[in-house]
Amino acid sequence: MMKVAAAATSLSLVAAAPYTPPTYTTPSNLTHPGLDILAKRAGLLYFGTAIDNVVLNNTAYVSIAHNVSEFGQATPSNGQKWMYIEPQQNVFNYSMADAIMKPAKEAGQMRRCHTFAWHSQLPDWVNNGNWTKETLTAVLENHIKNEAQYFKDDCYAWDVVNEAFEDDGSLRNSIWLQVMGPEYIELAFKWARQYTGNGTRLYYNDYGIERVNNKSLAVAEMAKDFIARDIPIDGVGLQAHFTVGRAPTYDEVSAALTLFDDLKLETALTELDVRILLPDSPEKQELQAEVYTNATKACVDVAECVGVTVWDFWDPVSWVPESFPGYGNACLLDDDLQRKPAYYAIEKMLDEVAKK
Ligand SMILES: *[C@@H]1O[C@H](CO)[C@@H](O)[C@H](O)[C@H]1NC(C)=O
Ligand SMILES: *[C@@H]1O[C@H](CO)[C@@H](O)[C@H](O)[C@H]1NC(C)=O
Ligand SMILES: *[C@@H]1O[C@H](CO)[C@@H](O)[C@H](O)[C@H]1NC(C)=O
Ligand SMILES: *[C@@H]1O[C@H](CO)[C@@H](O)[C@H](O)[C@H]1NC(C)=O
Ligand SMILES: *[C@@H]1O[C@H](CO)[C@@H](O)[C@H](O)[C@H]1NC(C)=O
Ligand SMILES: *[C@@H]1O[C@H](CO)[C@@H](O)[C@H](O)[C@H]1NC(C)=O
Ligand SMILES: *[C@@H]1O[C@H](CO)[C@@H](O)[C@H](O)[C@H]1NC(C)=O
Ligand SMILES: *[C@@H]1O[C@H](CO)[C@@H](O)[C@H](O)[C@H]1NC(C)=O
Repeated sequence: MMKVAAAATSLSLVAAAPYTPPTYTTPSNLTHPGLDILAKRAGLLYFGTAIDNVVLNNTAYVSIAHNVSEFGQATPSNGQKWMYIEPQQNVFNYSMADAIMKPAKEAGQMRRCHTFAWHSQLPDWVNNGNWTKETLTAVLENHIKNEAQYFKDDCYAWDVVNEAFEDDGSLRNSIWLQVMGPEYIELAFKWARQYTGNGTRLYYNDYGIERVNNKSLAVAEMAKDFIARDIPIDGVGLQAHFTVGRAPTYDEVSAALTLFDDLKLETALTELDVRILLPDSPEKQELQAEVYTNATKACVDVAECVGVTVWDFWDPVSWVPESFPGYGNACLLDDDLQRKPAYYAIEKMLDEVAKK
């Protein structure tokens, strides 16, 4: 199945194609070949998942996480974050990252690597250092250099800079911005290209850019400027952490992806999950299924969108309950590792696309 390019209208709300999501009240009749197999048949490069270190002792979880039919791509949820990779200055520890990356490679899963420059999950020595522009610049380059070289040729893509914008489209007031100024972003991309090699896709990754809004427009402006000035950027990751009841529709996600398509940049949904205000109900799970399907279908339909990654597939390891008290059940598999309506809905949609 070939992808159909969205109507290329710059910086405006334009739907890729009319789309009425079907409703799914029962499991499909499919024999469950696996979401990645179906996604590839529907024209995507992969359907993937984030994998977290905390449950690597659970063999049932691990066997699904590294099942390449189900998930053709893996992202370490936490293992490549700065606080674990460089817990003390110039002391690098790759054991958490390797615990995800090595089995993913052995299983034949593509790896999206995550992340170099971010304001969060930094070790104290970075947050509390008495930095000058010069010293912090050296710290960031040294971090990217070590990690990029360690994972050289292991990563299909790197999220080079994560969450650098505020919702209003201004730059986030992070330690990087405060000390290094706005050019920390382009420096990170230049170092990423220099040290990862030329085959790795370099992504900017953020949340809240799944609609055309001030934030996504600001990211598109930055990308456009980078392209004009030959700053290496290959893609934009739309995290897609959604909430039932206020999630973007198919048309909205399509329009946001199209902003970057118009710049000839690759895109991906990099952290898809759909949280529910508890208590859960069959009705909420139906809506959740529709939100998941809308987003995935938008990626299938917009030409440069290569794949969808869920931010873990199992409710008990989701980041949601801790970060959004009162919310939960955001994933495709329930507490007992059983498929939920959202799983069946994505499966059926992909199968229908593949058959066209
Ligand atoms: C499953 O198959 C049965 C019999 O072939 C058919 O009647 C039914 O509509 C199918 N259900 C779905 C969800 O496709
Ligand atoms: C991998 O997942 C597919 C799809 O769910 C399933 O058919 C297959 O048995 C799984 N393989 C293993 C080794 O568990
Ligand atoms: C895995 O380890 C966690 C604590 O680290 C523990 O709570 C959990 O019961 C363990 N799970 C299994 C399946 O051993
Ligand atoms: C590296 O990190 C792992 C996992 O957090 C930890 O168990 C190990 O002690 C660390 N190694 C060193 C040398 O600090
Ligand atoms: C921070 O660095 C500046 C300039 O290098 C120095 O003058 C100042 O004493 C330092 N402050 C602390 C608390 O170390
Ligand atoms: C978007 O930005 C414009 C000006 O750049 C501002 O007037 C508007 O209030 C912003 N909207 C939101 C929702 O922040
Ligand atoms: C990337 O390509 C450029 C130009 O071809 C080359 O000079 C450079 O060495 C390459 N970088 C790596 C890390 O392979
Ligand atoms: C899914 O997208 C369609 C088309 O944009 C929209 O009409 C529908 O409301 C969306 N569903 C949900 C649950 O957001």
